[in-house]
Amino acid sequence: MNNRLPPALAETLTYLNDIGYTEIYLPSPAVTQPDEHTAPDRAARRSAPDRGAANRLAKPAQPPPRAASNSTDASRASGKGGEASASERAAALEVLAGQASACTACRLSEGRQSVVFGSGHANARLMLVGEGPGAEEDRQGLPFVGPAGELLTKILKAIHFERSEVYIANVVKCRPPQNRDPDRDEVTACRGFLERQIELVQPRVIVALGRVAAQALLGSTDSLGRLRGRWHTVLGVPTRATYHPAALLRYAHYKRPTWEDMQVVRDRLRELG
Ligand code: URA
Ligand code: SF4
Ligand code: URA
Repeated sequence: MNNRLPPALAETLTYLNDIGYTEIYLPSPAVTQPDEHTAPDRAARRSAPDRGAANRLAKPAQPPPRAASNSTDASRASGKGGEASASERAAALEVLAGQASACTACRLSEGRQSVVFGSGHANARLMLVGEGPGAEEDRQGLPFVGPAGELLTKILKAIHFERSEVYIANVVKCRPPQNRDPDRDEVTACRGFLERQIELVQPRVIVALGRVAAQALLGSTDSLGRLRGRWHTVLGVPTRATYHPAALLRYAHYKRPTWEDMQVVRDRLRELG
């Protein structure tokens, strides 16, 4: 059956199955059309307000080169990163990572093996923000490389993003002992790094993963349930909160809302071009 599906759809279904979705929830009836060539009313559907799931599943257009758009799009920039070229911002991110690697601004510096600054594309369109490094991240010095990270990679693939295309960071860059939640003063101490990362990467959309990241990014004490399901703005960037991949590993019922959140993110990125 799978070999009759358009490759992008088959691939998406395979990933969804991998990440534990045995049922999928389709946003519009248009999805049942299997293929461009067997869907004579495709053109009509395409011009409908709801673009249809087959369209949603198409690979997103390549982002325009940031360097080219940057000079004419300074308004999108916020903070000091605004006027700099993409390569200047990437270089500044490297400098910032160097500064973080020596940071002792909070007590989390005491137990760490590595400072886990961030990874991915320095000028990514999509930035994901987690809570803080776990054991494997602390060992490798990279965010989301343990079990939650493997699931995150699959979630990203399901919306047609490779990890190398997105930028991934955490609210705190050093591992909290026993993976406890970071304390408020630790989040505050580390906040400058996160804000600067956002200003330098200039993502089009940010996704906060889990309650701790959402509360820290949004400066809120509301529950994740209250924070998800709508758009927020962080340093001028449209921001969405969803469940943490580690929570999905434990609570299967978070998978459907997470998938829905990520579809909204993908659609927004597509709208933004
Ligand atoms: N959980 C997080 O919040 N961040 C990581 O980098 C890994 C697991
Ligand atoms: Fe510095 Fe952040 Fe690490 Fe604290 S968690 S020591 S503020 S880098
Ligand atoms: N509660 C959290 O703190 N995070 C989640 O991802 C889900 C529930």
